[in-house]
Amino acid sequence: MSQLLISIVRLQHFGGTFLRFLFINLIFYSYSKPKLLAKFEFMSTNPQEILQIAIKAAIRGGRIIKQYWGDLESSQVESKSSWRDLVTVADKKSEEIILKTIKAKFPDHTIISEEGGGNKEITTEYKWAIDPLDGTTNFRHSYPFFCVSIGVLKNDKPLVGVVYDPIRDELFTAIEGQGAYLNGRPIQTSKVSSLKESLLVTGFAYSVSALQECSMELFKKFNFLTHGVRRDGAAALDLCYVAAGRLEAFWEYGLNIWDIAAGALIVQEAGGHISGPLNEDFDLFNGKILASNKTIAAELIDQISENQKCATP
Ligand code: IPD
Ligand code: CA
Ligand code: CA
Repeated sequence: MSQLLISIVRLQHFGGTFLRFLFINLIFYSYSKPKLLAKFEFMSTNPQEILQIAIKAAIRGGRIIKQYWGDLESSQVESKSSWRDLVTVADKKSEEIILKTIKAKFPDHTIISEEGGGNKEITTEYKWAIDPLDGTTNFRHSYPFFCVSIGVLKNDKPLVGVVYDPIRDELFTAIEGQGAYLNGRPIQTSKVSSLKESLLVTGFAYSVSALQECSMELFKKFNFLTHGVRRDGAAALDLCYVAAGRLEAFWEYGLNIWDIAAGALIVQEAGGHISGPLNEDFDLFNGKILASNKTIAAELIDQISENQKCATP
């Protein structure tokens, strides 16, 4: 299995859209026919090796989530920091299989995972930031917009990003410096060059803080300056939609590293802009993000900076 995934990465390097397409589909198929995989053995190296494990883990997690989708009992849903911050049996089972897959190959790496199964107290060169189910509220309501997000950092810099949407079977991937891909095909941010013609997306953290007011004001403001603002409910997938040119920009305050580690790299590798909302240097650990295509970034930052409630970095 894993060797097939490495093959895709190599194809990403050396071109061959059709072959890439063929291989990615072979991967999906091969999960149901594991013996097939044994025929594709060859040596692997980092970061491709990391990418293939991240893909394997994301697809396994996604499969589990899909099994529970639309079929949750109320006893399988609990709340965490507040009554509206949910966790389900699918979040936990997905985390379990993802961590098992990663630990089998990289037992020494640091793992920061939302539902707490990692070992974040250990500091190593490689850190995995995992959201086993991003979009839990959507999932809880059978609203089909959620994903698995797996980002890998090397010395705290994004190295690999994988986001998998199990409903649409869409796999977004990136390695630092090597472009971004959707099911093996290269993707790029959109060419829309004015705010007026753009479609944006944002999100709101569960906790109510001063930034919520800033977020609400920006939501109102951009809603009237653009074609519209969506609130889709899965930050990692929101970022991938910006990377794929389906949306022009995404911003949010109060996110966690597991929400954005993968998606931010995918946007960057798709040629997009990544910063804090006031154009501060992007910091994966402070929860604030502005991701957009490069052509509307300046306009967005100007508009955000004009807003009093958002003006303090
Ligand atoms: C949430 C989603 C949502 C965002 C929240 C996140 P979860 O993650 O990404 O879109 O607005 O800030 O916490 O709880 O579904 O993993
Ligand atoms: Ca999340
Ligand atoms: Ca989550």
